[in-house]
Amino acid sequence: MGSESGAPLLEVREVTKSFGAVAAVQGVSFELYGGEAHALLGENGAGKSTIVKMLAGVHRPDSGDVVVEGAPQTFAGPADARDAGISIIYQEPSLFPDLSVAENIFVGRLPLLAGRRLDRAGMVRRSTEIFARLGVALDPTRPARGLSVADQQLVEIAKALSLNAKVLVMDEPTAALTNVEVDRLFEVIATLRRGGAAVLFISHRLEEVFASCQRVTIMRDGRLVRTATIDEVTVEDIIRSMVGRDLEQLFPKTETTPREVVLDVQGLSSEGVFVDVDLQVRAGEIVALAGLVGAGRTEVARAVFGIDRRTAGTVRLLGKELPNGRPRKAMAAGMALVPEDRRQQGLVMDMPIDQNVALASLNELSRVGLILRSRETRLATEWARRLQLKFGRMRGPVSTLSGGNQQKVVLGKWLARAPRLLIIDEPTRGIDVGTKAEVHRILDELVAGGMAVLMISSELPEVLGMADRVLVLCEGRVTGDFTRAEADEDSIMRAAAGLSATGAA
Ligand SMILES: Nc1ncnc2c1ncn2[C@@H]1O[C@H](COP(=O)(O)OP(=O)(O)OP(=O)(O)O)[C@@H](O)[C@H]1O
Ligand SMILES: [Mg+2]
Repeated sequence: MGSESGAPLLEVREVTKSFGAVAAVQGVSFELYGGEAHALLGENGAGKSTIVKMLAGVHRPDSGDVVVEGAPQTFAGPADARDAGISIIYQEPSLFPDLSVAENIFVGRLPLLAGRRLDRAGMVRRSTEIFARLGVALDPTRPARGLSVADQQLVEIAKALSLNAKVLVMDEPTAALTNVEVDRLFEVIATLRRGGAAVLFISHRLEEVFASCQRVTIMRDGRLVRTATIDEVTVEDIIRSMVGRDLEQLFPKTETTPREVVLDVQGLSSEGVFVDVDLQVRAGEIVALAGLVGAGRTEVARAVFGIDRRTAGTVRLLGKELPNGRPRKAMAAGMALVPEDRRQQGLVMDMPIDQNVALASLNELSRVGLILRSRETRLATEWARRLQLKFGRMRGPVSTLSGGNQQKVVLGKWLARAPRLLIIDEPTRGIDVGTKAEVHRILDELVAGGMAVLMISSELPEVLGMADRVLVLCEGRVTGDFTRAEADEDSIMRAAAGLSATGAA
């Protein structure tokens, strides 16, 4: 893979970083060459984002060096890293919504004409050139407001190129993208590589790594396990290196006989979003809502829970009709919703881990209005164990957890309530392969114990592996309804695309 000169563009040399008692990164070394896409892999909390933050100039290594083209660097802040040619593409970029795409690309260094007038035309021209180079169609003059996450990332990538970045670091860029957007990002990555840049790519989806990377570096518990070329390793090798053992069954599934109807939704509609959705979920079963991103699955879930108001239809939980637009009533009746965007919707970042876990169970934990701190901690400790949460201190703020571990806290918070109906949107997004199996096992266990689950998932293997029934949505309509025996990849994909409909409602 090496570049023309054979010298790495970037080296991480024996870097170490601790936060209090947590040794996040311990003596890790690897190299990035021009022309390669290099995956950085590891379980939740392995230290990947900590490495990224050292490359970004956000954290300073306790020891060891970040070396750019042979020269050890000391970054006092993000600007220094950027000046050294390192650009970070975050999972959800924060653009200025009121500025245009071009202004976002050049923000902080807007080109001026004589008389200090802004050179808008020049900015737009250069933005257009960069997008052309990347092979993407984005209008530089439109405002950033309303751009999809994928397009926002492209703006960040364009910005990186305008800064002549040699190293692009992408920390879970694909987590919130549709399949089509992921493919487009891979094409952009290939273009960047051909242009001689190095890309450091982080993802929990190993198929993406095999599709786009030439080498992998695997970390476990803050340490380097190995670096290898992609053709030297199999998925199993990688998983073994990441989790330190062979993986248990990814989709455990206990056969249960569904019992009474827990959720009964009839004719649910939300104007312009979805129409006439009927669905039932029984105690002891998992019903999956499948479909493409944008098909209306999350919106259906929100309307069932009452976060969004429905324009027509009824929602019954255990035979009792729920009022429209009243999530608290839904919760009191025994419903829980684990949202897709867990960081924003599920957690109070400054609050300790244990309090976040206990947040949804406050009634059970409080006696005469007093929250019992010890019970709170006990509850949180129990769920932390079950979900293999990696944390420093239970009483530390949730913001200090790694991304995947924050996701686990939200899961624990709702599971701790032991709801009769759990609506769970993308249960394992951002969660590493080892813990995925664990989350599936816990869901299976709860369902076997009589919980009803409505699961939204874009991962077909997860749908096929875990669901007792699959409802497929396409453009706000139910276009498929399959039993576990009937469901297969082909029939679900066809229904999701609005084609044929064996067994359609
Ligand atoms: N600011 C901080 N304060 C305390 N601990 C931290 C801080 N940042 C990270 N950590 C800890 O460092 C360890 C590594 O976290 P990091 O975010 O690098 O993991 P990751 O590999 O990116 O995981 P994920 O796949 O979940 O995103 C974790 O145990 C985390 O709790
Ligand atoms: Mg991370």
